[in-house]
Amino acid sequence: MTLTAWVNGRFLPLDEATVHIEDRGFQFADGVYEVIACFGGTFLDLDAHLNRLQRSSESINIQLPVSLTELKSLIEQTYRHNPFDDAMIYVQITRGAAPRSHLPGAELTPTMVITSRNLPMPSAQKISAGVAAITLEDMRWKRCDIKSIALLASVIGKQEAAYRGADETFWLDEDGNVLEGCATNCFAAIHGMLVTHPLDHQVLGGITRQMVLKVAKAQGISVEERPWKLTETGLTECMMSSTTNAVMPVCHINGEKVGTGIPGPMSMQLRRLMLDEFETLKVST
Ligand SMILES: Cc1ncc(COP(=O)(O)O)c(C=O)c1O
Repeated sequence: MTLTAWVNGRFLPLDEATVHIEDRGFQFADGVYEVIACFGGTFLDLDAHLNRLQRSSESINIQLPVSLTELKSLIEQTYRHNPFDDAMIYVQITRGAAPRSHLPGAELTPTMVITSRNLPMPSAQKISAGVAAITLEDMRWKRCDIKSIALLASVIGKQEAAYRGADETFWLDEDGNVLEGCATNCFAAIHGMLVTHPLDHQVLGGITRQMVLKVAKAQGISVEERPWKLTETGLTECMMSSTTNAVMPVCHINGEKVGTGIPGPMSMQLRRLMLDEFETLKVST
């Protein structure tokens, strides 16, 4: 199927969907983005994603080029052009095109691109065996709460992970606390509690993270949002969450087993609860 993208006011075949070489996204990574999952035509937590997009763009003084209601409609239209059973919708917004200068002019028209693509599901093998991660000291900027298109550190982290036969890099702060992954939030089961780094400028407020904490609390699992280390006593499981992964058990870190080295009960329970939550959303909309 030829993909169709929405670019600055028009639907175009992907090959013809282009932006200007002086776009500030290309020149400076001066922009923000969102990724939304869509299952069987139902968008997962669309309002939460749109609100985060608005917060991200306001944080860098880019005015969204359309209202959130219009954006929702454009996302739906883009999906209808590319109606995959399991889809991921990308919305990328940059400050616009202008002759290269760090200081942006006042009157720029933001660039907006929306695409809908097939969302690859994690393989059964990955789910049953869990995935592997490595750790690196965080080399990113100090506003990781903004979903910025400047993802160079994440690219390096993913490359290093792949080179070492792993799927993800967990970023550590200078004290060795696990912050988050290149494209995931990270959790541990410690003494039976679900622990994850609190929301601050060092982590992205993942929409899936929020959902994981909600379903965990609803099941009576105690949740602690606090800095945590891989070396803590009582740590039996690690997992990561994202729009494209739901919850994924992480069973090896830096080549060492986490706990028993296979997906633990809390990871499997949370993964199942999340998938149930997705199903409920499908039925209720
Ligand atoms: C750095 C980072 N943290 C966390 C996440 C997970 O966010 P979400 O659950 O909203 O997909 C992402 C997703 O791309 C990310 O890039």
